[in-house]
Amino acid sequence: MSDKKDIAKSDTTEKIVSLSKRRGFVFQSSEIYGGLNGCYDYGPLGVELLRNIKEAWWKEMTYRENIEGLDASILMHPRVWEASGHVEHFSDPMVDCKKCKSRYRVDILYEMLSQKSKELIYKKAVESAAVDQSVNSMEDAEKTFFANPNIFLEEIICPSCGNKNTFTEARSFNLMFKTHVGPLEESSNAVYLRPETAQGIYVNFNNVKEASRQKLPFGIAQIGKAFRNEINTKNFLFRTREFEQMEMQFFINPAEDEKWYEYWRDQRFNWFTKYGMNPLKLKMHVHEKLAHYAKAAVDIEFEFPFGWGEIEGIHNRTDFDLKRHTEFSGKKLEYFDDRTKERFIPFVIETSAGASRSFFAFLCNAYDEEHVAKENSDGKASSETRTILRFHPSLAPVKAAVFPLVNRDGMQDIAGNITEDLRKNFKVFYDDSGAVGRRYRRQDECGTPFCITVDSETLIDGSVTIRDRDTMNQERINKDNIVDYINSKLNQ
Ligand code: GAP
Repeated sequence: MSDKKDIAKSDTTEKIVSLSKRRGFVFQSSEIYGGLNGCYDYGPLGVELLRNIKEAWWKEMTYRENIEGLDASILMHPRVWEASGHVEHFSDPMVDCKKCKSRYRVDILYEMLSQKSKELIYKKAVESAAVDQSVNSMEDAEKTFFANPNIFLEEIICPSCGNKNTFTEARSFNLMFKTHVGPLEESSNAVYLRPETAQGIYVNFNNVKEASRQKLPFGIAQIGKAFRNEINTKNFLFRTREFEQMEMQFFINPAEDEKWYEYWRDQRFNWFTKYGMNPLKLKMHVHEKLAHYAKAAVDIEFEFPFGWGEIEGIHNRTDFDLKRHTEFSGKKLEYFDDRTKERFIPFVIETSAGASRSFFAFLCNAYDEEHVAKENSDGKASSETRTILRFHPSLAPVKAAVFPLVNRDGMQDIAGNITEDLRKNFKVFYDDSGAVGRRYRRQDECGTPFCITVDSETLIDGSVTIRDRDTMNQERINKDNIVDYINSKLNQ
């Protein structure tokens, strides 16, 4: 079996990025023009994986009695973002060089600094660290620098003009992309690309409640694009400027907030393990420092090859959002309980996952290598690496591959007919080129869970072999039972 320890952590991200491109999971956006930083395109296999993740989430969250779906527009009234606090608070620090007028976002500036400057920052971070906050590594110093850049500015040499101590104090830079509605680029026409899907849900609270006649507690779920002009876009798909979110806002009676917060925290954690995520690579990180609107918050974190990172946040947002939109729009967003005759603003438990970030996490979780011993034609022993993406069958981009063992005796026709038949239900790949062993390897590398081979026995009794990607066991079943076989595995 494979030994994950063999895979050096530092190499794994690079291997995944390279496999993603080679097999058509993810491409750099506008690659032929040199790419656009923080933006990616999903290729033929990637788009299937992403759709399967979103489909699994959508079914889990909305195929139940008390959650409705929504697809709100990306552009919204600009007052939405004033009410939500994004215009005022959604920002990152940046600095200007007074000499050459270059402008830097603070962490990009850090990336550009020489090793010597970084060492000076480290020294200063150690000297100025509070008693309860130790600085033991360059990473700790980097974090201190991002949190409080102003104390380091006199140490820094401008990467553009080479002058020292020429930077202005750090100022806020809003992460929302701004554009204009209509032909005139006037501030009165300014709108934003939404930085989260959640606000589309809050502003539709009354509409959905009335149209669906839902009673509390009920939720509204949405999957959609979000945009953030992120300062730091490193680590492939982890932090991008355009990404997709899968968010659900659950509206509740404030008296029940703790119960529902715990319920959704556990449901969401279990969803990742249900779809094959290794529980040892998942953990909950409870926030001690809370955002101004939150009463409780927990992140579900995944251990990426470069370290732990949030893939989903579960928040008790209280009545903050509905209250703010009531205040800014003048329209009441409240609930009347027929039973108790109470009128109140519901609390919200939010589950907010990144679809693109979950995609990356599922890809990293699935990535595996096995070193297989083999004998060369000259009799010498060598080893070959088998790369496997061990996706849960429901998420796998291609569910099955069909091979004729050899291209004669009518095996191709039978395999072709099986492929067409399976295509009515699943994404299937037909392959008749090269040795069967090689064909298996190609499918392992893109995560196909089942490979079906038509051989000489098929000609006699209609049976085929089905080879399981993970166990590599082969079973013989009748070709008429393949659909049921695959369906039974998908529903496990
Ligand atoms: N409505 C709450 C909200 O948006 P968030 O923690 O800012 O909360 C939620 O984002 C999720 O969206 C994150 O857990 C992450 O999965 C995803 N996400 C946020 N920013 C992202 C980015 N720049 N690139 C990719 N995914 C991102």
